[in-house]
Amino acid sequence: MNDFDYKNDHLFCEEVQVETIAREAGTPFYLYSHRTLLRHFRVFDAAFAEVPHIVCFAVKANSNTSILRIFVREGGGMDIVSGGELYRALKAGAEPEKIVYSGVGKRDEEIDFALQTGILMFNVESAQELETINARAERLGVRAGIGLRVNPDVDPQTHPHISTGLRENKFGIDVEASLIAYRQAAGMKHLDIKGVSCHIGSQVTKISPFIDAIARLKELIGRLREGGIMIRYLDLGGGLGITYDRETPPHPSEYARAIIDAAKEMDCTFIFEPGRVIVGNAGALVSRVLYTKGNVGKRFIIIDAGMNDLIRPSLYGSYHKIQPVLRRAERGEITADVVGPICESGDFVAKGRKLPAFERGELLAVMSAGAYGFTMSSTYNSRPRIPEILVRDDRWHVIRKRETWGDLILGEEIPEFMRDK
Ligand code: LLP
Repeated sequence: MNDFDYKNDHLFCEEVQVETIAREAGTPFYLYSHRTLLRHFRVFDAAFAEVPHIVCFAVKANSNTSILRIFVREGGGMDIVSGGELYRALKAGAEPEKIVYSGVGKRDEEIDFALQTGILMFNVESAQELETINARAERLGVRAGIGLRVNPDVDPQTHPHISTGLRENKFGIDVEASLIAYRQAAGMKHLDIKGVSCHIGSQVTKISPFIDAIARLKELIGRLREGGIMIRYLDLGGGLGITYDRETPPHPSEYARAIIDAAKEMDCTFIFEPGRVIVGNAGALVSRVLYTKGNVGKRFIIIDAGMNDLIRPSLYGSYHKIQPVLRRAERGEITADVVGPICESGDFVAKGRKLPAFERGELLAVMSAGAYGFTMSSTYNSRPRIPEILVRDDRWHVIRKRETWGDLILGEEIPEFMRDK
């Protein structure tokens, strides 16, 4: 459910008419509903109310500081994967003791930054990383909270690029190796073993892979406890899917019920790292039709947003629904490719899609673009990054300005020898 709806055939985000924003802010832009964001966070959080838990929003899904702040104000924590994400989380006001740090490739300076901040725990992905964190903590005279990211080897049944919990994926440590690594960690003075973590993949639309992963973690935690290693946090990662087209993912309350039933007697504080399920359907990419044309046997709708703005269709073949900003019953339907201005054939939002016969100058909304939309955008073809706009009730706020051509060359320098005398 989201707050993008038609009133008299005009698309609204909450109580703001999308055309009004387009007129004043120009196109393209990302548009988010505050009400949807808040509801999604609250529904997820409430689903786990009966067990101790922290909802650590996956910053990579949408890292705008205003968006992060919405969750911080609801008591949420953050799941980060870089020093940059930690910086953003702190700017948004996140509490360090609710921050978990995942990722296979943490650099020394990023580890130091997280240690100085005093985050809750590092989700460690290799034995070498354990040693590195221990050494950096020793240098700084602190103890690092850690958990190992275990690869439970379950198939999340999602797109191969976003499945992470299989043995063949680069993520985590397999269960047997993790037992050895935990023992090593227990002997390292500057580590404080706090938890176990796993993340099996993204856009998971079934409950069973999560439950399979829990069964493996439960056994591991039992074995660790027998060996005197006390596990207090169980981080189950993110990954709950959403409806882009016809997918029928479990509702967060169903997901929570199954997890609580499978894991309640484990006596741990649960950590979740949801991204997409909170922000995905709370955002849209609004774009204007620049041109339409027909080549032999093919029709194209050329819009002013490109793969640099939303790369998911090009990268994963992802489906995003396309809706007119003004519905007009009288026009017919066509089958067309919706493409951007980038000089690549892979630059498309939709292929062979049945759509209203859009005309030059019209606005359309690419739906479900709130997760991994702006955060994966680039300035390819020297296209400035587009603004992010947040609607709350009947007001809209630019939460990130449109970049300028000047921004494109920020930091670039012409070496002395090429300068005009
Ligand atoms: N925790 C960890 C350790 C992760 O790697 C991820 C996502 C999440 C949490 C959040 O997962 P979510 O709840 O959003 O599924 N760019 C791709 C998705 C990549 C996901 C990477 N990891 C896409 O656009 O579909």
